[in-house]
Amino acid sequence: MSKFVISGPQKLQGEITVAGAKNAGLKAIPAAFLMNGKVELRNMPQIQDVEVMLQIAQELGAQVVKQGDQVSIDTSGVKSSHISSALSGKARTSIMLVGPLLLRGGEVTIGHPGGCAIGRRPIDQFLEGFRAFGIAVKDEGDQYRFRADKLRAATYFFPFVSVTATETLMMTATLIPGTTVLKNSACEPEVQALANYLNQCGAKISGAGTSTISIEGVQKLAPMEYAMIPDRLETGMFAILAAATGSDLMIKRANPEHVESLLAIFEHMGVKYERGQDWLRVIGTDTTRYRSPGKVITHEYPGLATDLQPPLTVLLTQIPGTTLVHETIFEGRLFYIDLLNRMGANIILCDPHRALVQGPTPLRGKNIESPDIRAGIAVVIAALIAQGETVIDNIYQIERGFERLEERLKAIGATVGYVN
Ligand code: EPZ
Repeated sequence: MSKFVISGPQKLQGEITVAGAKNAGLKAIPAAFLMNGKVELRNMPQIQDVEVMLQIAQELGAQVVKQGDQVSIDTSGVKSSHISSALSGKARTSIMLVGPLLLRGGEVTIGHPGGCAIGRRPIDQFLEGFRAFGIAVKDEGDQYRFRADKLRAATYFFPFVSVTATETLMMTATLIPGTTVLKNSACEPEVQALANYLNQCGAKISGAGTSTISIEGVQKLAPMEYAMIPDRLETGMFAILAAATGSDLMIKRANPEHVESLLAIFEHMGVKYERGQDWLRVIGTDTTRYRSPGKVITHEYPGLATDLQPPLTVLLTQIPGTTLVHETIFEGRLFYIDLLNRMGANIILCDPHRALVQGPTPLRGKNIESPDIRAGIAVVIAALIAQGETVIDNIYQIERGFERLEERLKAIGATVGYVN
């Protein structure tokens, strides 16, 4: 497995451009199956997870042409409605194809969806929502079989907020006759971006970005061009990187409004930043001059994104005081702290959802394996502030979510070795 070799500590400097949002691009691909014809996707992140979803699209019979961050998907030739477990196991978002495929022909089979190992990652919310639409769901052990002679509009209350379940039911409802109302929906910017795009294609979605989304079914959608919004999780990660390494970084093609929760924490901590319409500059300094925010709590948008919790925890190990990290979304998203403790951090895991971070503690380079995208990038940040050499193994888990990471880190002055 490929490795990064990083010797710290390193100060960085310069400008970094945020890529298109992974968690918008992954949904644009299933959305293309709601239409017949060629959809042009722009500002698509060039990452493994998108690759897998495009392979699934091709497996289903779509014509896919990629050129850098531009992807065109022509679904007019879609014949199959089976998604192999070899591919569905690599991408949790494969489940999002079920609704659009059922609208094209009444039966879909799919292997169990995969995803980051950050908790159980069940799909019960999808299955319940599909049943509300009149879809018959059968677990056949190695795959699910979905059947629907006729989908019906429904009012569905999500027992708890789910981003991709919201997006899946929302996009499916665009072509179901009648009015569908989704309550306790996710409000993430990617949900809003998807709704805006589908409305440009002729859908009638209202309320996206709030917890109640109404969808008036229409006959058909016309394929339009879709440019992805900036990746707020990249924006937040690079902002944390600047603060943690005491670097002055200009983050371009960003949307600071999408990371307000992180900037509020920066205010509490005394991290200096400047912002504009589409840029964010973080002027890092000696981390012992920052203040502990006391506690950080992940929460559905607009609260602190759970995906920023691992990188932020690395920063918290470098500031004076004790900070409670409360991970409310996933039960498996704190186990990476063992890796940070091996590097010298002093973090107590109180339970699967809470950790107490004591700082500042000097970190030392170690040999580490990346467990998932966000914990992986947290280890990269830790390696850039640690004393000595860190070898990070299994960087596929990081490259799944961050395009050309090694090249972009080098562009802001980082020395990163790459071992195949
Ligand atoms: C999306 O995952 C994102 N992925 C995740 O980003 C992100 O961490 C998460 O939302 C929360 O913001 C994509 O958009 C592709 P959820 P999703 O359904 O939709 C439970 C990254 O690193 N749940 O909002 O899968 C679930 O276990 C990834 O970019 C069920 O129990 O997350 C979790 O505890 C990681 N049953 C909670 O809901 C279900 O059917 C929220 O999960 C679905 C979810």
